[in-house]
Amino acid sequence: MHQPIMNYRFVLGLILGSSGFFPQQIQCFSISSVTSHLRPMHESTLKTTPSSTSLYSSKGKASSRRKGAFKRTNKQGNGFDSTLTTEIDVHMDMKINSLQNDFDHGKQSHHIKQNIQLKNEKTISIQGGVDEGHHQGHHQRYQNHQKAVSKLLSHIIPPGGKDSNNKKKNLVSTTPEWKALERHKTQIDQTHLRDLLQDQERSDEMFAMHDGVYLDYSRQRATLDTMDLLYDLAEKQGLKQKMDAMFNGDKINWTEDRAVLHTALRGERPPITDSISKEGKLIVDGDDVMDEVWEVLDQIKYFTDSVRSGAIRGFTGKRLRNIISVGIGGSYLGPEFLHECLKTEPEGINKSLGYTLRFLSNVDPVDVERACADLDPEETLIVIVSKTFTTAETMLNARTMRQWLWDFMGDDKEVVRKHVVAVSSISSLEKVEAFGIDTENYFFRFWDWVGGRYSVCSAVGGIPISLLYGFELFEKFLQGAHSIDEHFINAPLRKNIPVIMGLLGVWNMSFLEYTARATLPYSEALLKLPAHIQQLDMESNGKKATRFGINVDYPVGEVDFGEPGTNGQHSFFQLLHMGQVLPCEFIGFLKSQHDLCIDGEPLSSHDELMANFFAQPDALAYGKNADELRAEGISEDLIIHRTFEGNRPSFSLLAPKLTAYSCGQLLAIYEHRTAVQGFIWDINSFDQWGVELGKKLANDVKNHLLDARNNGEKIQADNPATSRLLNYYVENSKQLPCEDLWDANPLTSVTRKTHLDREHLPPIGHDLKGGDGKLAQ
Ligand code: F6P
Repeated sequence: MHQPIMNYRFVLGLILGSSGFFPQQIQCFSISSVTSHLRPMHESTLKTTPSSTSLYSSKGKASSRRKGAFKRTNKQGNGFDSTLTTEIDVHMDMKINSLQNDFDHGKQSHHIKQNIQLKNEKTISIQGGVDEGHHQGHHQRYQNHQKAVSKLLSHIIPPGGKDSNNKKKNLVSTTPEWKALERHKTQIDQTHLRDLLQDQERSDEMFAMHDGVYLDYSRQRATLDTMDLLYDLAEKQGLKQKMDAMFNGDKINWTEDRAVLHTALRGERPPITDSISKEGKLIVDGDDVMDEVWEVLDQIKYFTDSVRSGAIRGFTGKRLRNIISVGIGGSYLGPEFLHECLKTEPEGINKSLGYTLRFLSNVDPVDVERACADLDPEETLIVIVSKTFTTAETMLNARTMRQWLWDFMGDDKEVVRKHVVAVSSISSLEKVEAFGIDTENYFFRFWDWVGGRYSVCSAVGGIPISLLYGFELFEKFLQGAHSIDEHFINAPLRKNIPVIMGLLGVWNMSFLEYTARATLPYSEALLKLPAHIQQLDMESNGKKATRFGINVDYPVGEVDFGEPGTNGQHSFFQLLHMGQVLPCEFIGFLKSQHDLCIDGEPLSSHDELMANFFAQPDALAYGKNADELRAEGISEDLIIHRTFEGNRPSFSLLAPKLTAYSCGQLLAIYEHRTAVQGFIWDINSFDQWGVELGKKLANDVKNHLLDARNNGEKIQADNPATSRLLNYYVENSKQLPCEDLWDANPLTSVTRKTHLDREHLPPIGHDLKGGDGKLAQ
């Protein structure tokens, strides 16, 4: 729940000890690190008074310093021993206790001593130090300090009070950096991509590479000056600090008081040696995140290997070879995107031989039909994927599938224990148990710090994908995502693929005002990528409230859509070329999952596909003008209809080949792109309150329908239009009793019948006979 927003004066005091909160031996923090960290905040909100720039490690030096420092702070009468005091007027929307808890957990992992005190109505004082006994180099102390300060700042809302005019001053749109970009837009409006693309220096700069992924952004309506201004904006907005805060497990999802740690899902197995978690530990709410993650990964591997080897079987002893993954939104779209990538990947084909994976997401009964029509329930494992285990659609579909199992195998609780798996948040354990699931062996947890749309790297993707393709392939996917995480957190911003894409996203949306963009993978195996990005980005950045408690006054949150090329070319590309301007994102591969070259054809099918991948961005950028058309002899009356203005922005992403690994890379690139845009816009990319109202109203309607069906009452909804529509529906659907469907559609009836009515035998002859995924000969 929200705490009422309070207006505090925040004093960040870096303490040299003697305050009574710390043990005797304390080292002070590096002051230069503090000032650099705070620099990106709005100047007006900060008053920093550095009184020293040295770093003290020896006890003797520290105590002599303490004395001098004490005098200085004493003058301010705050009673604290400090070498640096930064004062900031803030709003804080969380409990002091909760902040203290965060810091206490930080203390366990980083040997940081922090104490938070409410000094008076408007002043919070934060005291920090590091155990002297815990030897740390300068760099490590710097890192620790960064973590502590960013943890705090993630909860701080700069000033403005209740006065919205005052609050407005915090909006990024009021900063000089934003205004410089606004002015710069008028220069860009004078340019055309035709000319920009001739600039050798520009083209030499406008690309970035990492681990085989190549981003070319020279077809954006941007110059090197634009990029400089965007990096200035990034610095102003503390982009790097916000990225660090995310990776460090700070509670940057401030409306839900949660960390955002999907990057941990693909982190190294402890002890960690990579550059992301230098100290090998990541603690959130007292739990060691990486230990938890790897415990579940091991559990996923054990379980899915056992199913695939036949060690775990169904209720009647048959091998489990069909998987129906029941879930919606983030509990569906990511896994489906990954499944489609692997379906045609050679290793994927081999590993999935003899198995099927289907997704049941929509509550539409037709989706039930599609999911299980021809499957043998005795060979089917139902995976219920729901973070909350309350989502109405998923739970009805889960009950439907449970009934389907019972219909065929009898109403025995062992049927559920042997055929139903749950992937859910640890806080849903009781609900999972109540459903009848074996929570010891068939329950796979994930955590509050994994958002639904960021969850494919957890058991959400891990269970269905490993069941179908084996755990090793899922692990390669995680490794690909991890490779991008490393790049994102370590590469300089100017060569950082997700950062560049995110900054250009802000440029296109907020300055050039292109409100939609197209994801165009030139790979049929990526056919579900656009749908995944749609949820990832639109649920993340479809917001308007900033962390200052005031709405944005600049455009945020694009409409994302897309289709694989070349299919899209024959569908909506007409609009891309001649209608509204929409930035386009072309994704292609050096090699196909399946190259195809038939006799007599000069080029392979993949080259043919890629010819389009390269041609379309230039067609969008260049266009075709009237002179060119006239030179081609086009008649004057058709010139206007055949003119392409061009100057339409796009970028091109190239990767070596679509494998599990590169699929992970793509996923992480887009996840981080979304976060970058949210960080610049000062919105929370990790909550989704906007879906709540519709859910509530659907419940109201369900109650109306119940009353009308059961009691024949006329529905009185909130307005006459809704009442009329609902009554029309109830009246005219009366004549479609389920009994009629019973004969017409056996499967639909199955979902309503019990095993006593069993009429439809499952298909036979699918037993794998111990062939580890290979069909028996
Ligand atoms: O659509 C709203 C939403 O909460 C998504 O964010 C989420 O991915 C989806 O519903 C499913 O939620 P759950 O996994 O809790 O069933």
